[in-house]
Amino acid sequence: MTDLLVDRFGRTHRDLRISLTDKCNLRCTYCMPAEGVPWIAKQNLLTTDEIERVGRVFADLGVVEARLTGGEPLLRPDAVEVVRRLAAIETERGRLRVSMTTNALGLAPVMDDLVDAGLERLNISIDTLDADRFHRLTRRNRLDDVLAGIAAAQRSGLRPLKLNAVAMRGVNDDEFVDLLRFARDHDAQLRFIEQMPLDAGHTWSRAEMVGGEEILDRLSAAFTLEPIGERGSDPAELFVVDGGPTTVGVIASVSAPFCGSCDRVRITADGQLRNCLFARDESDLLGLLRGGGSDGDLTAMIRRCIGEKREGHGIDGPNFLQPDRPMSAIGG
Ligand code: GTP
Ligand code: 5AD
Ligand code: SF4
Repeated sequence: MTDLLVDRFGRTHRDLRISLTDKCNLRCTYCMPAEGVPWIAKQNLLTTDEIERVGRVFADLGVVEARLTGGEPLLRPDAVEVVRRLAAIETERGRLRVSMTTNALGLAPVMDDLVDAGLERLNISIDTLDADRFHRLTRRNRLDDVLAGIAAAQRSGLRPLKLNAVAMRGVNDDEFVDLLRFARDHDAQLRFIEQMPLDAGHTWSRAEMVGGEEILDRLSAAFTLEPIGERGSDPAELFVVDGGPTTVGVIASVSAPFCGSCDRVRITADGQLRNCLFARDESDLLGLLRGGGSDGDLTAMIRRCIGEKREGHGIDGPNFLQPDRPMSAIGG
């Protein structure tokens, strides 16, 4: 068997995140400007076949999960087919598991197809339950579609179903308790996320950020929270809510980075390999694929990229530079 993808700091990479598109049907203020961003040209998007090939090469290298992200992954017309192709990948090491992070706008109509294609897990973004706030935050009046998507996901039986809420001062910081009650009612695990400096407008401020401690303080006013110790490479610190079975998580990427146990590697929608959300360099996997590179060439590029991974994102350090590309282009 081939060697696993281990970097200089002993981290084994088992989690591949593939962005299917940089486009989105929302315009969350912390992510995209109202007018959108200069989109990746269609001919530069990885094709279904290319995604499948890359998935197979990564699976041979010990990756066990492929998470589809965006932009909004369901805007890709071939999203279900991509799931089907990836979920069929089987190597000596086992079968590739396929998951997706979506804003759920277009989820309800394709939910059954996704399950049939082999999707195993879903993470859904929902930052507020108030329709006016949702409209202001995402610049689209579509909370009802998201709620329909969450209901469809709940019915699908895929578990654990995770809900993501980016914590934002003055936007939803008075709503954490309601969000957790909503998640509990939908048999879902809610994770509150510290906002990271990945917005297209570069307006993020460390001082304004709602940190993990503050999130827990607010929740503790209404629930008893019992920490679950063992975390592995989960970005969320998890707590049992009111004795269970509901759990809630805090993803404190900024105030308590989980870089030390990071097992992730990413591919942007235009086929660029990134060893970190905050990487400064990308490797041109697309160019290699289209230039006739062999699987061995792809493997060599992937190993080189993992070998160059830095120890951490250094957001709090003096030399931190926000990536040129926003979250929507990198793929969350
Ligand atoms: P699972 O743990 O497999 O359920 O997925 P996930 O939580 O990694 O994925 P999801 O797409 O739901 O992301 C939740 C939040 O974690 C988002 O804000 C992501 O940007 C953030 N996140 C995911 N991977 C990384 C990472 O490698 N580094 C950092 N700093 N944040 C990450
Ligand atoms: N910081 C933290 N999380 C973010 N997301 C989008 N932008 C940011 C940011 N700047 C979240 C989305 C989604 C997940 C993929 O990342 O809300 O849930
Ligand atoms: Fe779209 Fe996600 Fe960005 Fe919101 S955060 S605009 S849902 S890509």
